[in-house]
Amino acid sequence: MLTHEKIEKNVGLLIVLTILAVSFGGLVEIVPLFFQKSTTTPANELVKPYDPLRLVGRDIYIREGCYNCHSQMIRPFRAETERYGHYSVAGEFVYDHPFQWGSKRTGPDLARIGGRYSDLWHRVHLLNPRDVVPESNMPAYHWLDRPLNEPNIKTKMEALRRLGVPYSDEEIAGSYAAIKDKTELDALIAYLQGLGTALKQTR
Ligand code: HEC
Repeated sequence: MLTHEKIEKNVGLLIVLTILAVSFGGLVEIVPLFFQKSTTTPANELVKPYDPLRLVGRDIYIREGCYNCHSQMIRPFRAETERYGHYSVAGEFVYDHPFQWGSKRTGPDLARIGGRYSDLWHRVHLLNPRDVVPESNMPAYHWLDRPLNEPNIKTKMEALRRLGVPYSDEEIAGSYAAIKDKTELDALIAYLQGLGTALKQTR
């Protein structure tokens, strides 16, 4: 008979059974999330796929490593919702592949930064944060004021469509024209200004 004593005295068996127990527990928690409406469908009709400019801006955000200092996930605690606004819900991130939640907060959370400042404020702040926040230790991204170089925008949108983002053929066809003559700074600011606006007013 398989008694507790036998399991505890046999390291190999103990390891195998532990892995089985942990995997089962994990699957029971994780698998339902793939089928739950609240995690697979947009939180409301304001949650839209990134337009081409914001999509490029998002890639610049990742390229520049902004996530090393900024999270994009407001936890459901009073201290966070008072400061940042409505806590984040899964349905806001259905078009993020991959999402940028993070947990490192050298700077403030940016999940609801959209609309909090003007485009001009962001422009000045990104080029040199000290010009608007004298005590800031955020790096200056002065090289971002250069023309966008994004020859792969169509391929990127097609790849996202395969992952379930509902881009139409027209949107993909017009993507290159939509980002023509823009700078990297324009794209990054467009991305920031859209963050978290779908649930903005429910503080
Ligand atoms: C080394 C850490 C660090 C990095 C990297 C960093 N930031 Fe920051 N960021 C900060 C700090 C600290 C603040 C708070 C002081 C300030 O406003 O400048 C801040 C503030 C901000 C704010 C204003 C937030 C608010 O609620 O007032 C925005 C927007 C922002 N950062 C965007 C970015 C973007 C976009 C990038 C990448 C291009 C980036 N940050 C990279 C540290 C960082």
